[in-house]
Amino acid sequence: MNTEEQKSKRKNILIYNLLFVVVCGGLFLFLWRAPEETTKFLPNDEDHATFMKMDKKAAEKFCNDCHLPDGVAPLPEDHPPKYRCLFCHKREQ
Ligand code: HEC
Ligand code: HEC
Repeated sequence: MNTEEQKSKRKNILIYNLLFVVVCGGLFLFLWRAPEETTKFLPNDEDHATFMKMDKKAAEKFCNDCHLPDGVAPLPEDHPPKYRCLFCHKREQ
């Protein structure tokens, strides 16, 4: 017994399964292609040496001494929100 109704039900199930696979594949691709971590590390030089061992939050209070727009090393104009420097500019190299 194979009514039209059963056929269309089976077709729907197939479509849902396909949709599921496509969505999973898309999600996988999205995560897989997410940008790798390319943000520059905190330089390991004299200017930054003191911050290597400091508590992150304490260290971040000093970044603006040099990295404000009128400092010795202003941030690029398109710099992302810079609330917590060391979350993005990691210290280990
Ligand atoms: C005494 C001044 C001074 C302080 C304080 C300072 N910086 Fe810098 N920073 C510099 C200078 C000068 C440069 C550019 C030359 C270099 O790469 O060291 C620089 C460059 C950088 C760079 C770019 C590195 C690269 O590869 O181009 C990052 C990221 C950075 N600093 C983060 C920080 C963070 C985060 C803090 C606070 C924890 C901080 N800096 C505090 C002077 C300072
Ligand atoms: C949300 C992540 C994030 C935060 C928070 C952040 N930055 Fe950045 N920063 C970046 C990205 C992305 C760039 C672009 C260049 C790169 O890849 O390093 C950049 C670039 C820089 C550069 C220039 C590097 C070069 O190209 O020479 C400096 C200096 C810098 N940041 C310092 C800081 C300081 C100081 C703070 C805190 C006040 C801070 N950043 C907070 C993500 C961040």
